[in-house]
Amino acid sequence: MFTVIILKTNYETISKDGVLKYLKQPIEVSFFNELDSTNIEADRQILSGLKADKLIIAKKQTAGRGRFGRSFSSENGGVYFSLVLNKPFEVFDAVFVTTAASCAVVKAIEELTDYKVQIKWVNDIILNGKKLCGILCEGKTDPSSGKITGVVIGIGINTSQNIPKELCDIATFMDLKAKNVSKNQLIAKIIDYIYEMNDKTERANCIDFYKSHSFVLGKEIYYFENNIRHFASCIDIDENGGLIILENGKKKTLSSGEITLRVR
Ligand code: BTN
Repeated sequence: MFTVIILKTNYETISKDGVLKYLKQPIEVSFFNELDSTNIEADRQILSGLKADKLIIAKKQTAGRGRFGRSFSSENGGVYFSLVLNKPFEVFDAVFVTTAASCAVVKAIEELTDYKVQIKWVNDIILNGKKLCGILCEGKTDPSSGKITGVVIGIGINTSQNIPKELCDIATFMDLKAKNVSKNQLIAKIIDYIYEMNDKTERANCIDFYKSHSFVLGKEIYYFENNIRHFASCIDIDENGGLIILENGKKKTLSSGEITLRVR
């Protein structure tokens, strides 16, 4: 005689209905098994007249886009999506979107798993010292007015252990299957938190959260400006998400760019 035990599992493959089941924000969702890039698809949809906010999800990307023109490895098994926020933004608010997106990813991961993740300024999400997630925020402008008409937030989270060999030293993954966590729920929670964190009344809380999860505060870094390497230490995050550094005894705020931790 056999006893069959059915274990309830939250682990589902990514699907449009799966995400809609958890999503509180009333936005449209496009789902693709394979795409060049969800950020590129967002551009296509904007060009064809998209007027509302939109969530675009792909199970795999063949031309995943990273920051500074880099590529982003996007094999099957990861989580890749872009959120189009289709409304006018002041430059100041558009910049804050990046900070809010990082906090949203960390909040969602903390709520659904026991992974302890941190934020490397500006917006890499770090697990055990290695990159777990990359975020690419792109502002869209009206060429005639120069005004920002929308922002595309692209998020790629590594949830597959098949990390390309050349990235093994710097990248890591989250095993959602082992934690019995649904990727659909993770995506939906991140989207809902992005809306919550972008609310102006939440800004101060968002910055406090960002600071408390910083991977760089108190650490020494270097960065490049006009091809010159600058050494500094990270002392604070300002109210806009800028990084306050101490360089040669003087305070300075970096508002964009890339920093690297100094290992001595
Ligand atoms: C970075 O770390 O440089 C940013 C990587 C952003 C990757 C995501 S994956 C979903 C979206 N589509 C893309 O082509 N890029 C972003």
